[in-house]
Amino acid sequence: MNTHPCAIAGLIIVTSACSNVPELQPIATVEQIMETTVEPVANAVFDAAVWENGVQVGGPKTADDWKRVQANALMLAETTNLLLMTGRAKDQSGWPIRTQALRDAAMEAAKAAEAENTQAIFDAGTHVYQACTGCHLQYIPNLNAPPPRPP
Ligand code: HEC
Repeated sequence: MNTHPCAIAGLIIVTSACSNVPELQPIATVEQIMETTVEPVANAVFDAAVWENGVQVGGPKTADDWKRVQANALMLAETTNLLLMTGRAKDQSGWPIRTQALRDAAMEAAKAAEAENTQAIFDAGTHVYQACTGCHLQYIPNLNAPPPRPP
């Protein structure tokens, strides 16, 4: 009978690979995450501040509306954890920087929504949009896939 390698390693040091926490396994592709998660939650942020002919259209009105925008912004920030998982990250240089830019912009949007500040959510939406296009320009320059509704 073989000794489990973790038992031997455990004598020296308890490594994370031998803990009872299951290892994270990527399931969906980056493309699927973009389509089903990143894009819809980003649109909720973009839609929070849209003007047509100088008049704001749509946008959150009640405290509950703002809470939903905030939750979507936090979910957008959360997607950067999914994008960083081993198997999804395209490299360990530019990719983490691009995902960090998206996370920072999404957190800025969450704060703006918490403050129920339309100008701040508009500015944050611009930064989110820049984070999307920055990564796309670097990693998919030929597949032109910007968000469909820039702020
Ligand atoms: C860290 C890099 C990165 C960031 C940030 C990023 N994307 Fe992407 N996105 C990609 C990559 C890579 C693909 C191509 C995936 C593929 O087809 O394999 C993609 C593809 C897409 C697609 C096309 C999916 C399809 O049908 O092929 C959409 C839509 C999209 N992204 C939306 C967004 C939006 C909206 C944001 C910002 C809120 C964003 N992305 C931020 C890397 C990124």
